[in-house]
Amino acid sequence: MHHFQTVSDIRIDTGGVVRLDAHIRGLCPNKRIAIITDKGVHGLGLIDAGLNALEEAGYDVMIFDEVTADPPEEIVLKGAKAVSAFQAGLVIGFGGGSPMDTAKVIAHLCGDNEQPLNQLYGVGQAKGPKLPLLLIPTTAGTGSEVTNVAIITTGKTAKKGVVADSLYADRVLLDAALTLGLPASITASTGIDAMVHAIEAYTSTRLKNPISDALALTALRKLRGAIVRAVQNGHEDIEARNDMLIGAMIAGQAFSNAPCAAVHALAYPLGGFFHVPHGLSNALVLTEVMTYNLPKADHWYAEIAADIGAGQTGTDLIDDMIRLKAETKVPLRLREVNIPADAIPIMADDAMTKDRLLINNPREMTLKAATAIYNAVL
Ligand SMILES: NC(=O)c1ccc[n+]([C@@H]2O[C@H](COP(=O)([O-])OP(=O)(O)OC[C@H]3O[C@@H](n4cnc5c(N)ncnc54)[C@H](O)[C@@H]3O)[C@@H](O)[C@H]2O)c1
Ligand SMILES: [Fe+2]
Repeated sequence: MHHFQTVSDIRIDTGGVVRLDAHIRGLCPNKRIAIITDKGVHGLGLIDAGLNALEEAGYDVMIFDEVTADPPEEIVLKGAKAVSAFQAGLVIGFGGGSPMDTAKVIAHLCGDNEQPLNQLYGVGQAKGPKLPLLLIPTTAGTGSEVTNVAIITTGKTAKKGVVADSLYADRVLLDAALTLGLPASITASTGIDAMVHAIEAYTSTRLKNPISDALALTALRKLRGAIVRAVQNGHEDIEARNDMLIGAMIAGQAFSNAPCAAVHALAYPLGGFFHVPHGLSNALVLTEVMTYNLPKADHWYAEIAADIGAGQTGTDLIDDMIRLKAETKVPLRLREVNIPADAIPIMADDAMTKDRLLINNPREMTLKAATAIYNAVL
């Protein structure tokens, strides 16, 4: 039995943020909207045209722009308090994975349910109903706009997932023009994150399914064909930006149903302990984890390589990802992001707690292997 779900209303409209009033039609009867974003995205003015459209159409809008990378609980709670006081009828998550994940959880906390934040963590715990939710990504990476996942930082370093079908947004708007100004380094690392989502979905042992497989391959073809152009000429090449945004979204649809595995499990401690951006954390451990997985995943990697034109064997796919990391100039070693050797034991211990991810890995991950992988990329 396979079960596949995704967001039911997805709009691809380059430049479409200027028509934001049209894109929210039917979602907000009380005409009060809360936009969740971060100061970087807000400061760039990316939402301004959308705000004008909403104001001209008679909506009252509040902006909560205090989201930070790897959003911590206290920011989520502060945002929920503000949105609730404003009596918003619609939540819009506008930005990268951090604002979108925050918006998903805020929509739950402000919805007509009694669940506090600490009851939402885990798989299938968040029940809803939530406030109506529109997500507008401004990075091409996490695919959060179409996933049933939100990742929140709890305490100082731990990252916890809220994973539930009620997290699916009501609507998604993909406007590649919003990503034209994304700096090269963020384009590269978030783009590799999207490629990791597709690779891990295709090799997701437990819940691999034919729909996710097809999506993962399509995503990888688009992302592989566009990532170098988007990094090198991202300010002008709207076609590359569009392929990145659509590829990341499709990869999100794939892994939301065939979940990620050991690359993400080993990446999360880098973000939790050292604030390495999520995409970069994945890029750092990706090819070593793939090499570790090769004895069990060779046939799947080979199928991907053949489909996307990267070669014929599993090793060809690994080599192609090594090439892409070099061409997009992502850092390759932990020491380049100031992670010292003596952090490896706590990172390996932490990675081994990510059961939600590790159970999907094609080869069983062990503490010894996780330690060896970190050492290999030191
Ligand atoms: N929900 C999911 O399914 C899922 C999947 C993977 C990762 N995540 C989470 O998503 C978060 C990472 O998201 P991310 O990689 O998109 O980064 P992010 O949202 O943290 O943003 C990174 C930086 O990019 C800037 N930025 C965003 N859009 C921009 C634009 N168009 N132009 C210029 N600058 C821009 C932001 O201001 C920020 O400084 C992490 O918390 C991670 O755990 C969630
Ligand atoms: Fe990811």
